[in-house]
Formats: sequence, C-alpha cells, structure tokens
Amino acid sequence: NTFLLLNGPNLNVLGEREPSVYGNTTLAQLEEEIVALGKLNESEVITFQSNHEGELIDKLHEANKLGIDGIIFNPGAFTHYSYAIRDAIAGIKIPVIEVHISNVHARESFRHTSVIAPVAAGQIIGLGLIGYTLAFHALRDMKKGRD
Ligand code: DQA
Repeated sequence: NTFLLLNGPNLNVLGEREPSVYGNTTLAQLEEEIVALGKLNESEVITFQSNHEGELIDKLHEANKLGIDGIIFNPGAFTHYSYAIRDAIAGIKIPVIEVHISNVHARESFRHTSVIAPVAAGQIIGLGLIGYTLAFHALRDMKKGRD
C-alpha cells in the first residue's frame, strides 16, 4: 500500500510558526514519524509540502495517476477558500482525509468554513499532530475494506 502525506502553505515552517497553536515539532519530524508508521504497517508513505496551490493540485493529479491508496491532507489556509483544490479532490478516486492541527472552530470565523470537507472522506480537527497518525490508520482501514 502507498499513501501520500500532503501539507499545504506555511506547514514548511511547522515548529517555528505560532508554536502556541501548532506546537514545536517540525515538518521533517512529522514526516519521519508518518513514514515510520507506514513501514510498521507494510506501507510506503510519500511526503510532499508546497506553499503553492497549483503544485498541490498537480500532486493530487499525480497521486491519482499513480494509483495511491489514500491521501492525508492538511491544506492549510487553502481549506477555507480554494475551489480549485476542492475540484481536484472531487475529480480523483482516492480517499482524502482532511487534517487540521488546531481546532479551527475555536478560532477566527473565516476558519470555520471548509470548502474541502464535502469532497473529503473525513476530517480530523484540533487534536494536534496525532491527527495525521489517526488519518493514516483510517485510510489503511479503508484500503483493507476495498481489498
Ligand atoms: C491549519 C488551520 C488553517 O486555518 C491554517 O490556515 C493553517 C493550519 C491547521 O492545521 O490547524 O495553515 O490547517
């Protein structure tokens, strides 16, 4: 099985960026952890981060072509307004789990809307970095269900 861990804008500075909201762990550490979790579960985890909407869309298309089994995706602020990313997810067959480190519903009102949610397999919100781990397990279960 192969899964994609996809992170959007500003998540490259995880660990430095508003640590009171997002914690002290870096993106490299998070990616390492999820790749290791994949190995423990006989799965490959590919990682990608971009600050650019189009690059994230290209990656979603590429994942679809490669027949990836599931995508763990934190779209960052694009969550709240990127119809282009939403359309990309709607157009692929792979289940996508939307992850947010912070509890977006306890923050500014512009964060309360997700244009991604209607096309995501599910959302994991406000649980910190463990959300990525939970998403991995959920996608693995979904894949087992399809086998
Ligand atoms: C975020 C929440 C978004 O509102 C914000 O723009 C981010 C991170 C989160 O993981 O909590 O960049 O997706």
